[in-house]
Amino acid sequence: MSNLPLALITGGSRGLGFETARQLGRLGYRLFIASRTKSTLENAARTLRAEGYLVTAHAFDMQDAASIELLVDAVKMKDASIDVLINCAGVMYEAGSDSDLKAEIGSTASVLRSPERNVTDTIAINMIGTWSVTRALAPYLARGARIVNVSSSMASLGEMGPGYYGYRASKAGINVFTRTLAYEMRPRGILVNSVCPGWVKTNMGGPGATRDVAEGAAGIVWAATLPPDGPTGGFFRDGQAIPW
Ligand SMILES: NC(=O)c1ccc[n+]([C@@H]2O[C@H](COP(=O)([O-])OP(=O)(O)OC[C@H]3O[C@@H](n4cnc5c(N)ncnc54)[C@H](OP(=O)(O)O)[C@@H]3O)[C@@H](O)[C@H]2O)c1
Repeated sequence: MSNLPLALITGGSRGLGFETARQLGRLGYRLFIASRTKSTLENAARTLRAEGYLVTAHAFDMQDAASIELLVDAVKMKDASIDVLINCAGVMYEAGSDSDLKAEIGSTASVLRSPERNVTDTIAINMIGTWSVTRALAPYLARGARIVNVSSSMASLGEMGPGYYGYRASKAGINVFTRTLAYEMRPRGILVNSVCPGWVKTNMGGPGATRDVAEGAAGIVWAATLPPDGPTGGFFRDGQAIPW
């Protein structure tokens, strides 16, 4: 058994989750990555191992309660508590550009035109799934652990633009989760924060995004490695508080 601290990263197979895992590996964490598609996840684990990190990979679906229970079983087998939990897995099923929305040409991102399933699945995965996973793993968090909920400024009520109702609502829900959970975790010294990574070039962000993945992940790693007297119940980008 290793004495290295343990970081569990949902969505660790690609994009921001993968890069966050890599940066935490560099800081001396052993890594537990989890997402749905086994082949992508195993490729990610191979790459991280080749870079010298200790990696466990477990395929699961956070929309499925039985699958979350199997994730918990896999964590129990590590016989160690979780020092850092990064809730990074997420989806954006409402697609379409801002110009489509402005032109009102039937974008599936439109509040009025998006298929119902796109909205309900986004909320089920991003908001309910994040809550379910965290609740199931809570008994296995170390005293003084860090929880980072990967959110988005698209949830900021002060900046709200058109479209993406399911995505925006799911991330606003995650922000409520951050604030409420932060209170409940105080007695255990666990800091819980929401982080917006900015608009990042990933499968979700697309090639037109303004930031590379290392830049986006750095703000997540910042919240994962806060000192014991660091903030809790906050919303940050690049280590700076941003409006709800
Ligand atoms: N990219 C951006 O500009 C941006 C901006 C703000 C916030 N974010 C947030 O950052 C996080 C990571 O996004 P990304 O850009 O890296 O997207 P991405 O490349 O699409 O990665 C999403 C990850 O989540 C996993 N996932 C999706 N649904 C899942 C489920 N039901 N159960 C388990 N795992 C699931 C995916 O793997 P599988 O599909 O194989 O499951 C993948 O590993 C998301 O929460 C996103 O909302 C991204």
